[in-house]
Amino acid sequence: MQLSVPQRYTRPAIFLHWAVATLIATNLLIGFTFDYLPKNDLRPMIDAHKSFGITVLGLAIMRLMWRATHTPPPIPPYAEWERRTAHWVHWVLYGFIFLVPLSGWLHDSAWKGAAGHPMKLFWVIPWFRIGPIEHLDAATKEYWHSLLFTVHSTLAYALAAAFVVHVAGALKHQFLDDKPELQRMWPG
Ligand code: HEM
Repeated sequence: MQLSVPQRYTRPAIFLHWAVATLIATNLLIGFTFDYLPKNDLRPMIDAHKSFGITVLGLAIMRLMWRATHTPPPIPPYAEWERRTAHWVHWVLYGFIFLVPLSGWLHDSAWKGAAGHPMKLFWVIPWFRIGPIEHLDAATKEYWHSLLFTVHSTLAYALAAAFVVHVAGALKHQFLDDKPELQRMWPG
């Protein structure tokens, strides 16, 4: 069924959606290129990565508050399996936008060099590490640093996969099924 008047998200929801999507895509790209960066560029890129990630966490909290206080427009009447998949992918993405930055923050808080490299958001705003992890003894901290890297990296790959499914679904509905899918989440 063609929707003549697309049911749209509200402006704050649209802003939060695109802000989070842009920052996540940027952070995935930065994260996946860490291994290939020249040594001099690595530290500033990691610092930018942390700032973008903490911003995602803040925006994710706002997004969840919006979601808790507003009913989103219903998923259009696509095939049942597509509606179900879309529903689950949305909740998986909600989970990842918290868990990925949180695991990165925990990983960074367990870094042995943290004391010598205080965190500043966008090189300006002083930010804090997570105390209970930061103040562990050196050996335990090293253990958690390595484990949390594995957690952060695995979650980031899983987030990238969910992101691809989400974008592929939206593009399929828009261009193959010829439904006004993007208009639901497009500014203006
Ligand atoms: C949108 C949120 C985030 C995404 C999508 C993301 C993604 C990634 C990815 C893909 C990697 C590379 C993993 C690998 O090499 O296997 C990475 C590494 C890393 N991330 Fe994140 N991250 C996010 C948030 C954060 C936050 C909030 C922090 C810290 C405050 C953080 C700290 C780090 C650190 C320290 C590394 C390792 C850098 C290195 O030493 O190579 N990340 N992240």
